Amino acid sequence: MSNRTLIDFGKLPLANTLSNSKGDVEKTFPLIVGFDDQTKLVSLTENVDAEYLFPNDYVYDSSQSETMIKYFGDMAEYLESTFTPKTVLEIGSNSGIFINGFKNAKTIAVEPCDNFANKTNDMGIKTYPEYWSMELAKEIVKNDGKQDLIYSANTMTHIHEVDKAFEAVNECLSDDGVFVIDGPALQNILKYNAFDQFYHEHQSYFTCTALSNILNPMGLVIVGVNKTSVHGGSYQIMIQKIGHENSIKFGMDLGDILAEEQELGLDSYGGLKIHFDRIRVHIKDITDQIASLNGSKVVGYGATAKFTQICNMCDLDNNNIAYAMDTTPDKQNKFIPNTGIEILPFAKDRIDSVDYFYLGAWNYAEEIFKKEHEYIENGGKFITHVPEVTII
Ligand code: TMP
Repeated sequence: MSNRTLIDFGKLPLANTLSNSKGDVEKTFPLIVGFDDQTKLVSLTENVDAEYLFPNDYVYDSSQSETMIKYFGDMAEYLESTFTPKTVLEIGSNSGIFINGFKNAKTIAVEPCDNFANKTNDMGIKTYPEYWSMELAKEIVKNDGKQDLIYSANTMTHIHEVDKAFEAVNECLSDDGVFVIDGPALQNILKYNAFDQFYHEHQSYFTCTALSNILNPMGLVIVGVNKTSVHGGSYQIMIQKIGHENSIKFGMDLGDILAEEQELGLDSYGGLKIHFDRIRVHIKDITDQIASLNGSKVVGYGATAKFTQICNMCDLDNNNIAYAMDTTPDKQNKFIPNTGIEILPFAKDRIDSVDYFYLGAWNYAEEIFKKEHEYIENGGKFITHVPEVTII
């Protein structure tokens, strides 16, 4: 792949590696986003080993959000009733809130982080505690047969050499099977200023333009695309084997999405560079906004991987952000890497004393505003940078 740099964020710590002590200095790695002229894929030009990125005490837990529990439950129900698959495989099953939603199909999960693999095994779902690969795909075909539905949310973008991951899916998919990828769309990341989605775990950022260029030569084709509001705007992309496309309508037609991406300039280096150059301005806007609140108590709402990025990209530390709060027990009493910002559990007195919450979990803004109506009614304020730096 010939990669041309779109933006170089410098060296940053890994977004989900939280520190145990305030003064710990976490290892940093270059974060450079590039464009491949051949496939038009936007991806990181340097990759961190998967063992560093997805340790066996991986902290991200999808079941910490009511929004995600409902979203994945509904998605499982929709896919089961629409495609009536006999066999279902989820790649990157995390806490199991999707795969556990099937009533009749035989289900299998793949999850390399042991803490979550054990959880889905305990739920009675056969789980392979491994990274997705061609070897694993072949083993699954041997043990469990080809799969009618393969679903993967926010995982294909996490795999270095995504083309090999797709080849492995192709190996495992039954002839009339459906493969659904779900995850943030590059167009929304750029449109809504969600540059905190650029982190080491996210190795590629999908457009349907690039995906078609990668999938078509393998005999796979995108047959429909649904747009959702998840994670600030995601695509659910339905893929089938060429020559086996079914007639079920799934969101927008590929042609319409490709035209939209072309109009936004996402299919060329020059078009993308205009979007990426704006990120520097957004970073400065955040730094200026926080500096202008000097003397007020600013606290992070949700110690998301995205918030780690905001703090490190905008040079925020415990002098600007008093602490952050998060519901995930495994994140609590740890520190956002290289910032000295402690993560605390939610508590009423801690909320009441806050002047401004920085919305680290901006993708759950609606859920959070509903939950914190008392804080808002008492004059409490939120800061967000999506879709632009604003105080709410
Ligand atoms: P995500 O944006 O990567 O899904 O992570 C969301 C994080 O935000 C997760 O650590 C849980 C946390 N969170 C809260 O602490 N309070 C909330 O109300 C919500 C919705 C999320």
